[in-house]
Amino acid sequence: MDGVTDWAFRELITELGGVSLCASEFVRVTDRPVPAKVLRRHCPELDRGGRTPAGVPVFLQLLGGEPEPMARTAELAARMGAAGIDLNFGCPAKTVNRHDGGASLLREPARIERITRAVRAAVPVELAVTVKLRTGWQDSADAPLVARAAEAGGAAWLTMHGRTRMDQYGPPADWGAIGRARAAVAIPMVANGDLNDHGAVERCARASGAAGFMLGRGSMGRPHLFRALRGLEPDGPPELERLLELLRRYCDLMLGAGTPERSAVNRVKQWLCYGSRVEPTLAPMFEAIKRATTLRDVLRGEARLEGPARSAQPRTFFAASRT
Ligand SMILES: Cc1cc2nc3c(=O)[nH]c(=O)nc-3n(C[C@H](O)[C@H](O)[C@H](O)COP(=O)(O)O)c2cc1C
Repeated sequence: MDGVTDWAFRELITELGGVSLCASEFVRVTDRPVPAKVLRRHCPELDRGGRTPAGVPVFLQLLGGEPEPMARTAELAARMGAAGIDLNFGCPAKTVNRHDGGASLLREPARIERITRAVRAAVPVELAVTVKLRTGWQDSADAPLVARAAEAGGAAWLTMHGRTRMDQYGPPADWGAIGRARAAVAIPMVANGDLNDHGAVERCARASGAAGFMLGRGSMGRPHLFRALRGLEPDGPPELERLLELLRRYCDLMLGAGTPERSAVNRVKQWLCYGSRVEPTLAPMFEAIKRATTLRDVLRGEARLEGPARSAQPRTFFAASRT
């Protein structure tokens, strides 16, 4: 997910356990192949066999509308060690769609097929090329159509977000539409959208018949949900201390790798912003730090959040980062 699920997030979330696969943030491909240094910036895991330190594969995510530069970029990524290539035909952002990328391709399934085929042909057969879709541009009746296009292009499996582009993030995800797309193809279908607790995953499994599940915002709202889904711990809202510890480590990883303080703070805010939308218990935390621009601001926010009992504790939000 653009803006949050960077290498540091992936390192933390996969270390917790329960995650079988990650995708990088999207790499935008325009009219020419993307150079190695940009791929490495988006996906430093390329230098460690395409895996997180916990050993979970990371697919490089590409977004673009031109088959040739997409194929050449995928070829380079494969040589650099990508665990797989994931093609984004779901991004609803206006700037992206205006420049012929993401969900805008849902209006032209033949182009989804062409791009997928070109990328498939450019990388070794053993490397999976997967496709992320929404249920259509405007009408979820198109879900089987776009799914079949990606399958015809050679996708190994599909991930479908149960909303159209016009839905943006609005109405509840339509898992039934994912099921209709699943029934139209022979390759596995991974369901996505509003899978924010154990019960939602169970209901989605029944409605979609999907072979797997992709969690977006839920991974920020309940980072331990993947473990819960595997039966490794009970599901429930995150404990404050556990979440704070994760956020501290997130910052420490970023700052340790030279990320500017302002960017690190912004990423923590993004995490809590999107997380709190699906896990309301995080809302006070986000409120407390949403105007922060420095780590000092975040510390103040944390102190307000916890009151005297917490500020008396020796470890504060970024204690580790500041030493
Ligand atoms: C901030 C943000 C960034 C996202 N970035 C991407 C992206 O880079 N690629 C992608 O396929 N989907 C992206 N998505 C969409 C999610 O992958 C997912 O399809 C959507 O949020 C619905 O699933 P969820 O309810 O589990 O979050 C993004 C969503 C958000 C909110």
